[in-house]
Amino acid sequence: MSAVSPLPARTFSNPATQPELTDALRQSLERKTAAALNLLQDIAARFAPAVFANSLGAEDMLLTDLILKNRLPIEIFSLDTGRLPPETYALMAAAEKHYDVKLRVYFPRHEALEPYVKTHGINAFYESVALRKTCCQIRKVEPLGRALAGKKAWITGMRAQQSATREKLPQQQFDADHGLEKFNPLTDWSEKEVWAYIRQHQTPYNALHDQFYPSIGCAPCSRAISLGEDLRAGRWWWEEPASKECGLHVRKN
Ligand code: ADX
Ligand code: SF4
Repeated sequence: MSAVSPLPARTFSNPATQPELTDALRQSLERKTAAALNLLQDIAARFAPAVFANSLGAEDMLLTDLILKNRLPIEIFSLDTGRLPPETYALMAAAEKHYDVKLRVYFPRHEALEPYVKTHGINAFYESVALRKTCCQIRKVEPLGRALAGKKAWITGMRAQQSATREKLPQQQFDADHGLEKFNPLTDWSEKEVWAYIRQHQTPYNALHDQFYPSIGCAPCSRAISLGEDLRAGRWWWEEPASKECGLHVRKN
């Protein structure tokens, strides 16, 4: 019997070393791409105005590619927390050039951020879960509320296989916190399919993905993962898994 135990299903592989497309992968990619495009077209037609929240991660670049190449009337926005990695800003600039667009960016309110930093310090998120969540609230959640105001639907790049907390992620759900429909067109995509799309369509992507960062958020709160680690193990890695949510996708009580 072999002493080597099988790697967990959620093992990240470097995009540069993804295997060549097999017939099966090509077929599932074609089918899922058509389904995602169909859904985006349907959202644009039935839920105008609809917006897409683009974190500049691999999944979100795939959706950006579908929306912009097909000229869908869906606004794309990003939340600039002020602490994003340089690679993410480089990708924003590269994407603007690649698609010949200007990306919409929301920033935190300085009235909230400045007193927070003055009271707790520039890197207070490492000190407690509460301070970390307040930072996410100020830098991400409040700006998200402004980005979604007056919209009928929003779209994310989340996938069910990304983490245990996303296992049952539906393709469509009502977001009661923001009072609009929420769509996750890639929920049934595998990581392999995402990278196959990116390679096939030569979609720009974040250079950190080549350095074993499958999930990228703010620079001080994201790290590379090791072989066999969960895809989101590099996010807020000093916290217990149960608290690892930034508040963008969690129901308020
Ligand atoms: S999260 O914990 O930061 O929310 P993740 O990075 O996996 O998780 O992002 C999930 C989805 O949230 C992305 O596909 C995107 O739709 C949205 N999102 C996350 N961060 C941002 C951001 N900075 N700007 C816009 N959308 C974002
Ligand atoms: Fe602040 Fe880190 Fe949350 Fe970014 S991910 S908003 S730096 S706590």
